[in-house]
Amino acid sequence: MAELAARVRRRSEGHPGRFLLGIAGPPGAGKSTLARGIRDELNLAAGATIADVAPMDGFHLTSAQMRAAGILDRKGEPDTFDADGYVALLRTLRDTALGTPVSWPTYDRDIHEPVPGGVVFDRQSIVVTEGNYLLLDDRAHPAWAPVRPLLDETWYLDAPRRIIEQRLLRRHIRGGRTPEAARTKVAHSDLRNAALVESTRTRADLVLRKAGRGYRFD
Ligand SMILES: Nc1ncnc2c1ncn2[C@@H]1O[C@H](COP(=O)(O)OP(=O)(O)OP(=O)(O)O)[C@@H](O)[C@H]1O
Ligand SMILES: [Mg+2]
Repeated sequence: MAELAARVRRRSEGHPGRFLLGIAGPPGAGKSTLARGIRDELNLAAGATIADVAPMDGFHLTSAQMRAAGILDRKGEPDTFDADGYVALLRTLRDTALGTPVSWPTYDRDIHEPVPGGVVFDRQSIVVTEGNYLLLDDRAHPAWAPVRPLLDETWYLDAPRRIIEQRLLRRHIRGGRTPEAARTKVAHSDLRNAALVESTRTRADLVLRKAGRGYRFD
């Protein structure tokens, strides 16, 4: 982790304006955990808040919006996010001078809703943005295609299918689903999203895998 954070630090130094690192990967791969780890490592080493996490999950449509559109059962698929809003706010982060606040929405896993202004970027010069669909290209999902060119570096966090399934099942059950409903959600929705995300792996600058307590890269 320290080595990965040092790599980000090196690349961000001398970079004009904010440095944007993107971490993509299938659902349950550990993207949010890795992003928080990199942020904490960077801030600890600097002795100041130089980095923060900008989750793609903050751009989940609200449950009310999805219900109205009849897509609540497909929550998590590419068109159940406000991709245009995500792209626009990434651009704002890039274009806004340090010291001028920019609010970024987060996602609350307890209430299953986005939270406006969950994190505020001010003097943080490094943005770690993470989510499933950062590397989608123009072919099937044009709304997501502008993300990749806005990022200064992209990582893909890989994880074995078996591990992903276990983690997602556990999470859905903890979130209130019956084991039966959790299995259905994983089989019909999560794994389909995972397959789509896997097709974007080759677009990343670096592919990472968990190894023991840390990560190794290919
Ligand atoms: N390096 C790791 N070692 C052990 N467990 C991990 C590791 N990284 C993540 N996990 C566990 O895996 C689960 C999923 O992690 P996390 O929420 O970071 O994944 P994610 O890729 O952000 O998922 P999603 O796409 O659904 O947001 C969590 O329970 C987390 O504790
Ligand atoms: Mg996450």
